[in-house]
Amino acid sequence: MSIITLDIANTLVAAIGQGGVDRRELSFVSETLADYNRSLWDSPYPFMNLPFGRFQFTEMHTLAHSINTGGIRNLVLLGIGGSSLGTETIYHALLNPFHNLSEDARDNRPRYFILDNIDPHTINRVMDLIGRDKDHTVLVVISKSGETPETISQFMIFNELLKGSASMQDRIVLITDKDKGILKEIAGKEGYPVLSVPDGVGGRFSVLTPVGLFPSLLMGLDIDALMSGARDMALHIREKSSTMNMAMILAGVLYLMDKKGKHLHIMMPYCERLSAFADWFRQLEAESLGKGGCGPTPVKALGVTDQHSQLQLYIDGPKDKLVMLLYGGTETRPIPASFPYLEDLEYLQGKDLQDLFQAELAGTTLSLAEANTPNLTINIEEVSCYSLGALFFLFEMVVTYLGRLYNVNPFDQPGVELGKVYTKAIMGKKGFESEQAKMSARPPEPENTISF
Ligand code: PA5
Repeated sequence: MSIITLDIANTLVAAIGQGGVDRRELSFVSETLADYNRSLWDSPYPFMNLPFGRFQFTEMHTLAHSINTGGIRNLVLLGIGGSSLGTETIYHALLNPFHNLSEDARDNRPRYFILDNIDPHTINRVMDLIGRDKDHTVLVVISKSGETPETISQFMIFNELLKGSASMQDRIVLITDKDKGILKEIAGKEGYPVLSVPDGVGGRFSVLTPVGLFPSLLMGLDIDALMSGARDMALHIREKSSTMNMAMILAGVLYLMDKKGKHLHIMMPYCERLSAFADWFRQLEAESLGKGGCGPTPVKALGVTDQHSQLQLYIDGPKDKLVMLLYGGTETRPIPASFPYLEDLEYLQGKDLQDLFQAELAGTTLSLAEANTPNLTINIEEVSCYSLGALFFLFEMVVTYLGRLYNVNPFDQPGVELGKVYTKAIMGKKGFESEQAKMSARPPEPENTISF
């Protein structure tokens, strides 16, 4: 049985004509990656070792057990970018979509609030909710650098809110670099439990570390299955020849499409549970490859919803897009024969919503191909901890290969860091005086603003 199947037929010249990928070019690129792959696994990037180890599993289980037996009702997770998107993806895929709305939906798990923004409107509302139930709230603060202003300021606010609540010290967990950063310093001073982000694993590659695994454990999810999926995918990628290697073929297609002017990579799951996966991928691809004037632009869409919003553009707009369709449906819902006297509804009566979902997906692939818009499909047998682990690792490797093909370092993010520097300068942090001077040399120009 295949867990994940990649179908690239509609990206090839044979299906979509000149704008498509030529099989010989694809072999050339995937062969190049196969050469790279041989040396890569001799000295792997730190994230590539994760599926083969159980980094801090004992610490995570012990901590989660002691927190869960304390009877928690709310989990507030603070973090941004790579520190929150992995957990968001896992929760979205594996928990009840109405988790926070009812105890039945939660099934004895806590409500959760992932705060990856600093808009006071949201922060205040979460504080209103939590404020009534402080003794049963757990705060998990995640920042690899331990210095990100958004996360640190949120932490200062929620730390203050929880002050004086019962055994507060055991209910605030920090996940950060093992040696340095402000969070690490605070943990030492305040005695909060700490978990580490392994050395050399950056934010967007950290979902398979305590960053994504500890929050999963707090929700009772099977992190061993997540890691097994990642490990089996790692073995596939390490061992398979270039023609049968999902990561090499996918990286090859994405790269060649970009070179042929398909600069927009649209990820469009036909599965609501995977919609957050498209957000996770959007960050991974954008932040890893957007360097030196190159890099595709990842876009998120959702089937079938965006068939009625975006598809017109994908079919008939500029020919600058590659559409990646993900399908992962297993659940069924029969459509009853409610109006048997209506011949016009015969095609729906007695069918299943999942049949309709599949028909819509097939209709989209056909209409895209007919309009010569390249599209590929990734079919996921079942959305589970195991398949999600495999998907995470697959796309991390795809982006690593793309880094090689674009000749950029996929593991840094100088643009993001620059933004952080200016934020600190504007807020008046010591040590950022030269940036402050640069900004005061550029005062706002009234002639460039319009008021209503
Ligand atoms: O992928 C990355 O490195 C970034 O997106 C970071 O995750 C993000 O900037 C948050 O950084 P930190 O985890 O240091 O707070």
